[in-house]
Parts: sequence; C-alpha cells; structure tokens
Amino acid sequence: MQKLIIGNLKMNLLTIVERERYLESLKKELKGKDLADCKIVLCPPALHLESFIGEIENNDFAVGAQNVFSEERGSFTGEISALMVKNIGSEYVIVGHSERRKYFNETDEVVKVKINSVLTAGLTPICCVGETLEQRHDGKTTDIIISQIHEGLADVPISKIASVVIAYEPVWAVGSDTVPTSDEIMEVRILIKKIFADTFGQPVAEKIRILYGGSVKAATAKQLCIDPGMDGVLVGRESLIPMEFLKIAEIINQNI
Ligand code: PGA
Repeated sequence: MQKLIIGNLKMNLLTIVERERYLESLKKELKGKDLADCKIVLCPPALHLESFIGEIENNDFAVGAQNVFSEERGSFTGEISALMVKNIGSEYVIVGHSERRKYFNETDEVVKVKINSVLTAGLTPICCVGETLEQRHDGKTTDIIISQIHEGLADVPISKIASVVIAYEPVWAVGSDTVPTSDEIMEVRILIKKIFADTFGQPVAEKIRILYGGSVKAATAKQLCIDPGMDGVLVGRESLIPMEFLKIAEIINQNI
C-alpha cells in the first residue's frame, strides 16, 4: 500500500501571492521525482482548498481539510461542514489535532461526532492521538491512546473502521524538535494495532493505517517513519517548504 505523506499547512499562506508561490514551487519540485509508492495529501487552510484542488490533484496527490464542524448544514455561523469540503473536491480531513484539543477544547466526544460526519460525507478522517509530556512521564501513554481511540471511534460502524487513518502525534513532539526514538514509536504502533485487533478484530487491525507526526524532517524521516514501520507521516512546519516536504516523501519512497 502507498505510504501517506500528509502536509498540515496550519494557519499559513496569508496572501494569494504566497499561495501561488507555494503551488508553483511545489509543481517545480515535483518534476522528475519518483514518488510512486507515496500518496501525498496537502491540508491547506479551508480558504485555499479550491485552488489547491484545481492545481495539484491527481491520482497520487490529494487535498484535505484541517478541520470541519460536525453538522452537515444550517445556522452555525463561521463553520464548514464535511459535506462542503467533500463537494469542493477534498478527500481527507484531520480530526482531533492536538492544537484543536488544546486551543478549541476538542474532547474525545467532539472527535467522535466529527469522525462520523467525515465518514458520512465519504471522506477519510485522519484521527490524531497522542500523549502530553506530563502524561508520558506519569506512565499514562497507553491509557491515553486507548481512551482516545475507543472514545473517538466509538460510533464508527465496523464496515468503515478500516478507512480511518490514525496519526500518532506525541503532543510534546509537535512543533518542538524533540522526537521519540524509533522504538518508542514502534511500541505505540504495536499498541494501536492491538487496540484495533481486540476491539474490531484482526482483519481490521491489519488494514488500519498508522502514521507518525511531530517534528518530521528529511533528516529524521527514516527514524520516525521507516524504522518503526509506520504507514506514513503527518508533517507540519516542513510542509511549508515544498522542497523539504518532497524530500521527506522521496526518502520514504526510496526506503519502502
Ligand atoms: P510539526 O507539526 O511537524 O511542525 O511538528 C506536526 C503537526 O502538527 O501535525
């Protein structure tokens, strides 16, 4: 299966000029690169979804949203629904990112309803899970991952479970440059597989895709993705520099 290389552009690309420069540079960097074993997904701010889709979508490239609201339509000033994101041509949505959990009070309950609305709209949710540094020091990593998965996916019908993508993003590694070892990531990967096997059965556990996210760079892509056997990466800062982002994809592509 192709590795998923997801770029979370967060609240950046403030002008049309910046956006156009980004897309130009991305297309330039893509020329001549063999990334056949990777699927690249870019998640720009919602305002830019349409331009990204128009410029870069093809079979190996997709576009995703960074967030959606749980309702489909109606009087929810300022919100964007999964169906709107789907109808404009997106394929993925990031749900439960640690920044949304931290700054916008997104609980596992909120994650649960959002994941359902994303699946109902026919999109793929990228569900972020991960412990804070304090939780890790207190030996609570396993409990946190178990409860985030159990609660976040509580309402997903078994027929759709395997289409959920899990991104393990230790909160302390996001935006920090402190990263876990390959063994620490592999331990969490095995834990997530076990949670899926115990809860949904072995065939689902085998299909579920598990990514790593948090300070991924070209220099650390092997340690953070290949060595621990992850199915791809969720990249923040480095996705803002097309050359660096695609370098990560190339390294992963070469090491499969
Ligand atoms: P980072 O962000 O790569 O800048 O650490 C990762 C993320 O927020 O998904």
